[in-house]
Order: sequence, then C-alpha cells, then structure tokens
Amino acid sequence: MSRILVRGGRVLDPSTDRDELADVLLESGRVVSVGPDLRVDDVEVIEAAGCWVVPGFIDLHSHLREPGQEYKEDIATGGRAAVAGGFTAVACMANTQPVNDDPATTDFIIDRARQDSPARVYPVAAATKGLEGRVMTEMAALVDAGAVAFSDDGKTIMDSGVMRHVLEYSRLVDAPVITHAEDRTLVADGVMNEGAVSTRLGLPGNPGIAEDVLVARDLMLAEFTEAHLHVAHVSTRGAVELIRRARDRGVHVTAEVAPHHLTLTDESVTGYDTHAKVAPPLRSEADRDACRAGLVDGTLDAIATDHAPHAQHEKEVDFVEAPPGMIGFETAAAVTLELVRSGDLTPLEWIRRLSTNPARILGRPGGSLGEGKTADVTIVDPERAWVYDPAKGCSKSRNSPWAGKSLTGRVVATLVEGRRVYDVERGPLT
Ligand code: NCD
Repeated sequence: MSRILVRGGRVLDPSTDRDELADVLLESGRVVSVGPDLRVDDVEVIEAAGCWVVPGFIDLHSHLREPGQEYKEDIATGGRAAVAGGFTAVACMANTQPVNDDPATTDFIIDRARQDSPARVYPVAAATKGLEGRVMTEMAALVDAGAVAFSDDGKTIMDSGVMRHVLEYSRLVDAPVITHAEDRTLVADGVMNEGAVSTRLGLPGNPGIAEDVLVARDLMLAEFTEAHLHVAHVSTRGAVELIRRARDRGVHVTAEVAPHHLTLTDESVTGYDTHAKVAPPLRSEADRDACRAGLVDGTLDAIATDHAPHAQHEKEVDFVEAPPGMIGFETAAAVTLELVRSGDLTPLEWIRRLSTNPARILGRPGGSLGEGKTADVTIVDPERAWVYDPAKGCSKSRNSPWAGKSLTGRVVATLVEGRRVYDVERGPLT
C-alpha cells in the first residue's frame, strides 16, 4: 500500500484554520494524520521545507474543449495543465461541440476524464438546449449523469422567464446555476471595456453596466426563487456591490473572480494584444480594485480561472475578430499570490478562495486536509521565481497575457487521491 509523507512544509488548511509547520501522512487516498515530526517507516517522502502544503485547488470555471474542439484543448491536456497549476479538480463549462446539454455528453466527459485526466473533472451542464436561452435542459437526467451545476456560460440567458424557470428547477436537483451575466443588448458589438482606453484605441466598447444590469436581474430572480445563484467571472465594481447587498439580505448567492480581473486592466489592450481579449473584458482600475476588495471581504467567494484555450491562428487576427478568452490554469497561483504579497490576503485566506470555498459551492470533496479527508494536496513554493512560457506548459493553447513574464510563486507538486500526478521538475506524471 503506497504511503506518502509530505514533510516539513507549512500546512495551511482553511477548513480547520490550521497554519503551522507540520508533516502530512497520506494513505489509501486519504489524509491519515497531520502533525509535527510524524514518525513513519516504509514511506515515500516528499520534502516540502520552505513550501506551503495546502488542499488541492478547485477551479469552478474552465473550458476543456472536448468534445469538438480538441485542436484547442482536450480533457487529457486540460487535466494535465490543471494539475500543473495545482488544481486537483476543475469544473468544465458546457460550450463544447456538441454542447453538454444531454446526459450522453456529460457521460462522455466523465468517462474521458476518468481515463485521461489526472485532475478530477466536474461537468457543468448547459441550462438551456444548445445554449440558445430558450428551452431548458433535462436537469434531473443531467445531474444523474454527473453534472454538478448548470450554466450557459459564454452566453447570457436573456429571457428572464427562462432564467426564472432554470432557477426554480435547479432547487429540485440541488445544483447551483452559474450565470454569465452580460446583457447582450448593452454589449452590442463591444470587444473591450468601454472607457477612455477603448476611445483611444478606437475599439467598440462593452460597458460595465452590461454586467451590472444582468447581475441585478439574476440576484432578484434568485431572491424570488430562493435558488442558489453563482455569479461567474465578476468584473465590475457595480456587480461586486450588488452581490454584497444581496448577500446581506440573505440571498443565496456565491461568486467568483478570475485572476486577470484581479490583476489587469483595460490598459493591457493597448497595442491591440488579442491575448488581453476576454469575456467579460478587462476593466478599469476602479473595477479591478473593487474586485480585489470584494475577494478580500468575502463578497466574492472564489478565485476561478476561466481557462479558455484558443489556437494561435485564431488569436493572430484583428482584435475585433479574435475570440475572447485566455488560458489560466498554470498561472493562477503565481498571479493571485500578488494579493498575499500585498498583504490583502493571508496565505490561509488565499487558499480558502482557491480550494475550500469552491468545494463548498459545488458540494464536492476537497478543500480540507482534515484527517480522513480525500488526499488532494497541492504543494506551493511561494518564493520560486520563474518565467512563464506557455510553449513549455501542458495546455495545447498559448493564449496568455502572461506569456514571457517573470512570475513569483509556483506549484511544485500536486497529488490527487494520494497519488503524485505532477512534479515541477518532471512535469505531469500521468
Ligand atoms: C469563453 C470561451 O472561450 O469559451 N471565453 C471567455 O473569454 N471567457 C467563453 C465566453 O465566456 O465568452
């Protein structure tokens, strides 16, 4: 029976508020014990001195592109990129081809993940057939097949009546509805944030109010239906404020923010860099600061990557024509550690937003290093400096605004169910 001792790291476990130097013993896929100087014979040792030993990150938002767009990514490469970034589990959105709006597709994704992906994969099923915003999917059958949540991500459900019914039915299957909140009529032909920068660059703007309006509507519908609404990729000050107030009144809302919305602004679009094109768009400094404040005060529960791979030829076009999206698994930890270095988040609170809170939102295992819990573990060296080269990464795609940038903080090892699946020196081990 394989046993692993992760020795001498700083163990950070938000589920028990533990923050201390300790060893972690894993056996048969479980955490067996955590404590200083564990004495164990006949065990494989992973030295973690100088590193943080944390419950595996869980990503609420990614695009794995399989089935249908395997030239961008597939479940095998996406799963490897996930564990290289410290994610032991990832939720994948339904905008595949075919759309994951049918139990057979959900089944296929789960099957494929079981065979090919070192990370756990949680399919998010479409809320409406074909992501068309008209006819609801068969939620009960999709949940039976293994769907963990419902979302038309990439598209907004513009019909409020449909959204109401989606929320009502989601209660019956006890799964959250994840909203991609951008009012299409306000987005119009916008391709970047509307503001001084879009004016300067002469690009059509997508105003923050497009997000605010839809978040306000969905919060009202969630309050009315008493369903669990999860707001994807929050990017505006207005949305943060609306969610904060709704939470205060007891609405069942959770929310996520992406690393890019916490750290970049629309200034990154200067030079018409298509790697800075994403939906929702990179916003103003005030919006970015509000997202940071929202993450710090808990209004935004989780950091989620919105890993959205696109092929090089698709991004090497005019800014207006390029598809929105950036890859994010392998840079998420380093990029968001900036909030720890700035003193905005303690290491423990950072992990809570990458692991414990996402586990709670999805109602899945993980997010804890408590004894008896599943042995999904990530080891992070918070000081390790490196230069990110997507060509050397695990994703099939390279569309990252951090390509070629110097970063600090790196995942050095990842374990899923007690098995080592990634090591920074050797790469993915599956
Ligand atoms: C997403 C994708 O590429 O699937 N892109 C993105 O910029 N977030 C879908 C989307 O939300 O447009």
